[in-house]
Amino acid sequence: MMDYHVLKLIHVSCVAASVSLFLLRGAGMWCGAAWTAQRWTRTVPPLIDTLLLASAVTLAWTSGQSPLVQPWLSAKLGAVALYIVLGAFALKRARTRTGRRAALLAATATLAYIIAVAVTKQAWPL
Ligand code: HEM
Repeated sequence: MMDYHVLKLIHVSCVAASVSLFLLRGAGMWCGAAWTAQRWTRTVPPLIDTLLLASAVTLAWTSGQSPLVQPWLSAKLGAVALYIVLGAFALKRARTRTGRRAALLAATATLAYIIAVAVTKQAWPL
């Protein structure tokens, strides 16, 4: 079984890579940059996000933490689901640029909430 600290390091590294790519693509979308249509933007982020979710599930499993028991983990999971939907609207699904920008701002606020919940282990970290 992999060491908990190594798993957590993998999880946090995936978080850093995933958040950086999301913000970079969001900034590209905001400015209407042509590179946002390049092929790598559809292949690299899903790979990192899959690793991020796999590390999250393994981390929760090995440490015996469950969203059914820990309110902070259920809040985090719900917020991750919301972030995925908002992120899809921000980078692809919204039809207008205003819609994409609004979704990007909402997704970024949700991301800040997820990180605050992860660090404080409180469903309401403020
Ligand atoms: C966008 C998605 C996610 C982000 C940004 C994120 C962020 C983080 C961060 C920053 C930490 C380190 C907190 C610390 O300072 O100790 C962490 C830890 C953790 N995350 Fe995530 N996470 C995400 C998804 C998930 C999901 C989906 C789960 C559960 C299924 C999860 C479960 C955990 C667990 C169990 C820990 C370790 C808590 C501990 O210290 O015991 N994460 N996460």
